[in-house]
Amino acid sequence: MPSYLIAGGRVMDPAHGFDAELDILVQDNKIAGLAPHLPRRGVTVFDASGLLVVPGLVDVHVHFREPGDEEKEDLQTGAKAAAAGGFTTVVCQPNTDPPIDRQRRVRWFMREAREKAIVRLHTAAAMTMDLAGKKLTNVRGLKEAGAVAITDDGHPVQKEDLMQDACKAAAACHMLVSPHCEESKLRPIGHPQVKTDFAQEAGLVKRDTERARRTGCHLHISHVSLGQTVGVLKRQKSNAVMVTAEVTPHHLTLSSEDEERIGPNAKVNPPLRTKEDVQVLRRALKADIIDIIATDHAPHTPEEKSRGWKDAPHGIIGLETAFSVIHTELVLKKDLSLQEAIRKMSFRPAQIFGLLPAGQIGVGLPADLTLIDLDRKWVVDPEQFFSKARNCPFAGSELCGKVVMTLVGGQSAYTDPVMQTRMPKRTSRLQETLGIAQ
Ligand code: DOR
Repeated sequence: MPSYLIAGGRVMDPAHGFDAELDILVQDNKIAGLAPHLPRRGVTVFDASGLLVVPGLVDVHVHFREPGDEEKEDLQTGAKAAAAGGFTTVVCQPNTDPPIDRQRRVRWFMREAREKAIVRLHTAAAMTMDLAGKKLTNVRGLKEAGAVAITDDGHPVQKEDLMQDACKAAAACHMLVSPHCEESKLRPIGHPQVKTDFAQEAGLVKRDTERARRTGCHLHISHVSLGQTVGVLKRQKSNAVMVTAEVTPHHLTLSSEDEERIGPNAKVNPPLRTKEDVQVLRRALKADIIDIIATDHAPHTPEEKSRGWKDAPHGIIGLETAFSVIHTELVLKKDLSLQEAIRKMSFRPAQIFGLLPAGQIGVGLPADLTLIDLDRKWVVDPEQFFSKARNCPFAGSELCGKVVMTLVGGQSAYTDPVMQTRMPKRTSRLQETLGIAQ
């Protein structure tokens, strides 16, 4: 691949703490130079002035439904949606059909992902066989096959001794344990909680963090939704328990009061909560009690989501709106700095899930980069999504800030049509170099 220069962008790398106007030289899929005003002679130049250049974003919680439910999403469309949202690395959940619960299925996934996906895909594996909560999987074997965490996804492991065994096995081979502390009971529209919710979320987080303390495993809590859970996390973090946590863009911006307006595209597990919960989650994210942002991109078909509140499946898609939602609702409203938002969507998730060097910009590292126009306003139209699914609760919202280009190993995985205007005809060589179809 010929070398080229990404010139004059505002390059921000929260991992190394820089935010400056720099040139990036890309050579052989890697970053070969990073400095102000690199020499331009003989190099194809891509003008990134006025754009923010950040490490490729990392999402550790997506559902790409392959194998088994490819009518909702598959590895190819899921990866395209990820790229359009600025993500260069994602971690898929194992609740497929069949689930990713044995070594050969992890290996199958890694092979398919390499062949089909334009971004880097990883998978979490099941904690129990068939996600049935009865028999522990071969945790060490799954780790050796390439899985980056274990989780039973939407089925929290109820048996305490089994959870204890899972934590012990994970600690022994440094596997991340990522429980979903949620319930999947139907809740009436507009009701933020049912009586058992505390027991189900904060209670399970308390139980599981105790297990982590006793066994020494690293526990990562999926999609925190309740203010009470933040209290438990804060206490356990101050007890030096190895626990990290994530929150979704929808739990940071929507409440159960929005459900009537949005309908089944707001039906999700865990459910949307109160406006007070939203505020507590935002403060916890800022204070690092909640470490990262993850989308829980959960595609369902339009037909399934048209069945009404009672019968539609739970789930919200998020890859193609995540950055813009966080920028519009948290960064511009000063609940999080831009640098904090990028760190929590790139370096920190990569660090927690053992995916480094993803989430960083540095000489010698793969050229996984996301270019963003922070001033661009756009209206969310799910019909334009690369995802097969349309279950987006932000349809029709005007957002500010848009991913305009995503590079994986220096090659374009997504280029916004507007970027073509930055590449007049004479730069068709540049388009060729970047791998953009002309
Ligand atoms: O709403 C949800 N849908 N929450 C989950 O945790 C799982 C997901 C799915 O797989 O559809």
